[in-house]
Amino acid sequence: MASDFVSIGALAGHEGQQATLKGWLYNKRGSKSLYFLILRDGSGMVQCVVNQQEVDDASWQAAGEATQESALAVTGRVVKDERQVGGFEIQATAVSLISIADDYPISPKAHGVDFLMDRRHLWLRSRRQWAIMRVRNRIIMSIHAFFQERGFIQMDAPILTENAVEGTSTLFEIDYFGQPAYLTQSGQLHGEAMAMAFGKIYTFGPTFRAEKSKTRRHLTEFWMIEPEMAFYDLNMNMDLAEDFLVRIVGDALRDCKAELAVIGRDTAPLERVQKPFPRMSYTEAVDLLCSDETLAMLDEREAALHDEKAALLDERKENQKIYGQAKKWQKKKIDAREIEINQRLDQIEEDFRNIPQWRASAKHFEWGGDFGGSDETLITWHYDRPIIVHRYPAPVKAFYMKRDPDDDRLALGMDVLAPEGYGEIIGGGERATDLAFLEKQVADHNLPPEAFEWYFDLRRYGSVPHSGFGLGLERTVSWICCLDHIRETVPFPRLLGRLAP
Ligand code: 4AD
Ligand code: MG
Repeated sequence: MASDFVSIGALAGHEGQQATLKGWLYNKRGSKSLYFLILRDGSGMVQCVVNQQEVDDASWQAAGEATQESALAVTGRVVKDERQVGGFEIQATAVSLISIADDYPISPKAHGVDFLMDRRHLWLRSRRQWAIMRVRNRIIMSIHAFFQERGFIQMDAPILTENAVEGTSTLFEIDYFGQPAYLTQSGQLHGEAMAMAFGKIYTFGPTFRAEKSKTRRHLTEFWMIEPEMAFYDLNMNMDLAEDFLVRIVGDALRDCKAELAVIGRDTAPLERVQKPFPRMSYTEAVDLLCSDETLAMLDEREAALHDEKAALLDERKENQKIYGQAKKWQKKKIDAREIEINQRLDQIEEDFRNIPQWRASAKHFEWGGDFGGSDETLITWHYDRPIIVHRYPAPVKAFYMKRDPDDDRLALGMDVLAPEGYGEIIGGGERATDLAFLEKQVADHNLPPEAFEWYFDLRRYGSVPHSGFGLGLERTVSWICCLDHIRETVPFPRLLGRLAP
């Protein structure tokens, strides 16, 4: 059966015609004989003009009664209007209420983050969240397209597992009929088994980390994409990761222009995500981190923040001066700007608190340690696109990594670090193939050998060089949308201290 209504995203195909739309009231303005209803239906937004002269009494009354988030059906003529959101306007001939909404808790004025997070089930209807979720969807489709076009098979790894993959400190333990089990940290080990069966595979599923860290890039539940390839060495793995990111970013730039504009994302840094990505060893990255150049960049950044703070304080003073005599619409504008200024000032103060630690961490960083978030940020400041760091000290990487044949202290791991302060979005490497080495690694990491017997079989029966990596979907969305915090990248984020809604 053909649908009896048209979605807002498909209005272009109905220009000049009558159409019925079904959606929710996002916003409303009115005068004596006119209402301007902004309708949203998930596919887009459109302004519906309701003229008392053009509609019957019931329609006029429905438009008048409709509150924010009431559900409506609007019938009218689809008119092209470049000035309007979405490029169309509806000249209504009929309006009917499907359901009337109670006083909606989320108003266009700014709310605190906790308030919004507690109402995430409603917050998702806001324009900015709409844009972010659509970018997420675009990225998901690009990921599948990229791998499917290259002959990879998508395979799901189990979520309930017997073993740790990425260290035992971040495992969520559950009771599996009296036996301890864990929510998976990564599908990789099962991915390796599938790669030995199918050559090139990728997993795409939820993964869990009992991260006690409250940062802007940690979730306890996140989606990971893990390709695993038989007969790939570290270099082939890095080449694939590079092609992969170029593809994802390119697709988002091409297909999500409107969404990125809603979010206010400056797309210039994304345009620069082109091959080749700079590649450096961990040792080279440490040298860069500890260099005078890095410390000079920090000084410059601090000075720039001082200037920005002074300018914001001046602007606020000016606004306060004119506020008394300002018109109502000007006051509204000043109020909105005040919220922005306060948010930015908070961020600047946080940077002022952090910069001394960043400086200390960079100055005193010792070869052998793992990079923290700030170290990654400082290293990436030197470049205009993602970078790949490879050959880390083995102790900071997982048990399954192959050692560098040229230097046994090193593991053949690689991380891709995103620019603009986002840091690690991909972690991966070449896998150890030597059975005796792996058995010893499992023992040295205090892992139960029984749980890895099946994994050892992969080295007993037709062992081959192989590699893979994991991309964190939410970290990628956060970077591509340039968000302050990872919590907005997933419909219902799970974080330390947040399990609802
Ligand atoms: O670097 P990680 O821990 O690597 C693995 O799990 C490997 N087994 C992947 C592989 O080689 N198949 O995690 C991979 C990526 C990180 O780079 C990051 O993007 C994301 O997963 N990630 C998280 N994202 C959000 N919240 C967290 N707590 C995350 N931990 C890791
Ligand atoms: Mg990692």
